Amino acid sequence: MDGIDRKAEGAPVFRTPGGVAEWQAIHALRRLLFEPGETYDPAHPDDGRADHHVRVLAAGGTVIGTLRIDLTDPHWAAFRLVVVEPAKRNRGFGGAMLAAAEAFARAAGRQAVRLHAKPDAVQFYARHGYGPIDWAEPPRDPAGVNMGKIL
Ligand SMILES: CC(C)(COP(=O)(O)OP(=O)(O)OC[C@H]1O[C@@H](n2cnc3c(N)ncnc32)[C@H](O)[C@@H]1OP(=O)(O)O)[C@@H](O)C(=O)NCCC(=O)NCCS
Repeated sequence: MDGIDRKAEGAPVFRTPGGVAEWQAIHALRRLLFEPGETYDPAHPDDGRADHHVRVLAAGGTVIGTLRIDLTDPHWAAFRLVVVEPAKRNRGFGGAMLAAAEAFARAAGRQAVRLHAKPDAVQFYARHGYGPIDWAEPPRDPAGVNMGKIL
């Protein structure tokens, strides 16, 4: 068992976004990560880089979570813009999405993951084996914490 409520949502699938509507859902979810006064750019060039991989966790035809896996470094992956639909949190979807992203990074030959954790997500990542790391790249949120995990 992986803790996912399949009755309500259908089997969740971790995959590339399916089209315009799913990209709109991604942008709507990502906007939740931005504070008032911060600007989210839905056309940011980082999403189009060949070594950046946007993924969704979708269940029952609905996008319930998203993240981006950046494989810019040959040794470690960076997970960015990690977010689950608020109404669907605390049901295991975030953990399932994280595990799927780690498997993707491992299959791509990366030995570790780095991310900027928002303060409210530190406990979530810690439960999944992440700990504080030194990373020269500062978090966008000044209260954020740089965390990492060896795969
Ligand atoms: C962080 C985030 C992605 C986690 O997604 P999620 O779907 O809620 O994650 P999970 O359900 O796997 O785990 C969340 C909690 O629910 C609990 N949980 C998991 N399955 C559960 C279940 N079936 N029943 C009850 N609780 C459950 C977990 O124990 C976990 O607790 P913890 O946070 O204390 O570790 C989500 O809360 C989110 O989008 N937050 C806002 C954006 C954000 O902070 N993103 C991270 C930026 S770095």
